[in-house]
Amino acid sequence: MRIEDPRLTAAFRELGVELRPSTSLADETSLGIGGTTDLLRIQKHESIPDLLALLDKNHVPHKFLGGGSNLLVGDGELPWVMLQLVRPEPDVQIEGNIASVDAAADLGRTVTFCAKNDLGGMEGLIGVPGTVGGALRMNAGAYGMQIGSYVREVKLYRAAARRIETLRGEQISFEYRHTSFAPDDMMLSVKLELPSKPFREILQGIRICNEKRRSSQPLGQKSAGCIFKNPPGASAGRMIDELGLKGLSVGDARVSDRHANFFVNAGKASAKDMLALIASVRQRVHKAYGFDLENEVVVWTA
Ligand code: EPU
Repeated sequence: MRIEDPRLTAAFRELGVELRPSTSLADETSLGIGGTTDLLRIQKHESIPDLLALLDKNHVPHKFLGGGSNLLVGDGELPWVMLQLVRPEPDVQIEGNIASVDAAADLGRTVTFCAKNDLGGMEGLIGVPGTVGGALRMNAGAYGMQIGSYVREVKLYRAAARRIETLRGEQISFEYRHTSFAPDDMMLSVKLELPSKPFREILQGIRICNEKRRSSQPLGQKSAGCIFKNPPGASAGRMIDELGLKGLSVGDARVSDRHANFFVNAGKASAKDMLALIASVRQRVHKAYGFDLENEVVVWTA
C-alpha cells in the first residue's frame, strides 16, 4: 500500500514519523518472506494516538511490526501499512532489581545487558530472536522460563481505548505462548523485576542454553522459530519427526532437517509455499495423532 497524499506525509513529519516507502517485508522478517508496503517508523510513543487517529480518519489499514522474527507475511503488494517503533538510546535502564526496557529493544541484548548488571532469570531467552515487545506479546519462553514471570508493569497503546495505558503485571495473564493483550494492542515498554545473581553465574546459564539451542535448532537458516505450538502434553517437533517429514518441501519452504518444528526458507520461498507446507504438515499430524496443531507463527496474509 502506498501513501502518496501530501497532507498525510506532511502530518507524519509533524508527528516525527518517518515514512519508508515500498519496504520489502522479506528484508524485515527472519523468514525472509513477504511482499512490499510503506513502513511508518515512530520516534515518540506520545505521537501514537494522533498517528492512529490520522490513519483511521483516512482509511489507511495498518499493522504493528516488532522484530519480525515470529511472522509469516503474504506475498506481493500488501493491503496495509506497517508501523514500527524506533529503538531509543538507551533502551534499557536499571534501577535496583528493576529493568525498564523499551519494546523495540533487542531481546538477546537486553538479557546480556541485565546480566552485566547482575540481574538474571532470563538466561533461557538468549538466542531467541526479536524484540522485547514481541517476546512480551506472545510470552516467549524457553528452557523452563517465560518472560511473563518477570513483568511488573507494561506501558502499551490500547487500540480499543485509543490511548496509552500502563498495566500492572497482575492485570495481565501470561500463559504458554499466549497473553491477555488484544491483537491490536501495541507494546511500548516494560518494567521487569529480575532476581539478583552474579554475572559469572548468569553467563554459565547463558552458555548452557546457547549450547542446547545450537545442537537442536537450525540457527543459521531463515526461520520463524517453531511454527506450531506444542499441544498439551505433546511435542509438535517430535510428532513431525516421527512421521518422517524432515526435509518435506513445497518450493523452497522446507521442514528443517535439524528440528522438525522449524520450517526454513531454503532459498526464495513464497508465503504461498510456506502456507502450503504448514497445511500439509498439520493435516498429516491430525491424521496420525488426532491433534489439530495451532500456529505459533503469526500469519499476515491479505
Ligand atoms: N524432538 C524430536 N525431533 C525433532 C525435534 C524435537 O524428536 O525434530 C524431540 C526432542 O528430542 C525432545 C522433544 O521433541 O525430546 C522436545 O524438543 P525440544 O526440546 O527441542 O523442545 P520443543 O518442545 O520442540 C520448545 C519450544 C522452543 C524452545 C525449546 C527449548 C515450543 C513450540 N517450542 O521446543 O521455542 O526453544 O522448547 O525450551 O514451545 C519457539 O517458541 O519458537 C521455540 C523455538
